[in-house]
Amino acid sequence: MLSGEVSVGGSKNAVLPCLAAALLTDEEVVLENVPGIRDVESMSEILHTFGCAIERTDNSVTISGTREVYPVDDALTSRLRASILILGPLLGRFGRVEIAHPGGDIIGKRPIDMHFDGLRGLGAHIEQTNSHYVVSAEKGLVGGEIFLEEASVTATENVMMAAVLAQGKTVIRNAASELHVVDLADLLISMGAKIEGAGTNRITIEGVSSLSGVKHRIRPDEIEAATLMIAAAVTGGSVVLKNTDPENMGIILTKLRHAGISFSTEHDRITVTAPHELVATNVHTNVWPAFPTDLVSPFTILMTQAAGMSLIHDWMYEGRFFYTDKLVTMGANIVMADPHRILVYGPSKLSAKNLESPDLRAGMTMVIAALIAEGTTTIEHVEHIERGYEKIDERLRSLGAQIERVE
Ligand code: EPU
Repeated sequence: MLSGEVSVGGSKNAVLPCLAAALLTDEEVVLENVPGIRDVESMSEILHTFGCAIERTDNSVTISGTREVYPVDDALTSRLRASILILGPLLGRFGRVEIAHPGGDIIGKRPIDMHFDGLRGLGAHIEQTNSHYVVSAEKGLVGGEIFLEEASVTATENVMMAAVLAQGKTVIRNAASELHVVDLADLLISMGAKIEGAGTNRITIEGVSSLSGVKHRIRPDEIEAATLMIAAAVTGGSVVLKNTDPENMGIILTKLRHAGISFSTEHDRITVTAPHELVATNVHTNVWPAFPTDLVSPFTILMTQAAGMSLIHDWMYEGRFFYTDKLVTMGANIVMADPHRILVYGPSKLSAKNLESPDLRAGMTMVIAALIAEGTTTIEHVEHIERGYEKIDERLRSLGAQIERVE
């Protein structure tokens, strides 16, 4: 049973584009509430290869100075998919980028055609060599009307970051409206960009000639907050989450409440209180403000403890659910209807197993499964989990979990 207080970190998916946005200026960009996660380390190393000086103190990062470098280090870009986020700012700033296909979690096909379509709409030319994409706009970028066939989060962010320094007006239609897109827009606006409509599916950007330095606080991570709420609920615990943003968690809190988690909210706090009568609840992912795909795996473990049958449908990724066979070996009753849909029958008693974390969200789900399983579970490849959750072992331990990181 988890109990106590825990602080939620800054949003992974907000801090990564905000770090990339620092490439848009030579002046100092200070980001606060930066989580101590591996993806931030990898992104910082990428920025460092562009000559940026990076200083880290507690949970803030200061970035200054950028120069042109070709191509971007392949070993670094292969570490995380969000490395693609340097494309927009570098193109806007220097008119040329050479980059290999980005790495990242293997949860689906994850193409990058929307990034290129969007940048082409601003006048960029894209050439593919054997190993790299060469993206250039020798005469500079010019604003345009862009319709994204898929409302990709990082494609929206890339086009937005390229367009802030383009000549004239850009309109992005079918833009992603996630909370992290809004956070990036807020940062860019404070740097002097002219952006309207972030948070809706139509974003307009009026290009400016340069951007300046800024201090910006990264929004709290709504996925981490919900994941910790689920961990508290399945263990029957009571936990106070600090540094959260319940007001903007919309569908996430609605679904967790439907599922029977009892909690109250106050300013930046969410208090989860036992007891929980967990009930089967269907979820269907979509782009924000609908249920986020990144919460599908933690929601699955919640449903293994709920009474009844729930349908979990993730239309976005065809590889998200393959790890659920590991939960089945622990005693969960999950039937895969097809790669996008699972049926979960609960409640099930789980027992410990030796597991391997295949990706960030599935890995964190395994940690929660281990908390309620009888016996001691070992999870390998926790580096996946550390990409997005800061010191999760220490924080869960502070709530009473028996968890230990071994080398
Ligand atoms: N898509 C395209 N073409 C593109 C880009 C995307 O068709 O050029 C489609 C994909 O096939 C998929 C959907 O759009 O159906 C989402 O695409 P993608 O995986 O490219 O999303 P992303 O923008 O790279 C961000 C988050 C992900 C999150 C998705 C969806 C960041 C850094 N990453 O990725 O976060 O799952 O949006 O909300 O913001 C995570 O945090 O665990 C994570 C994977």
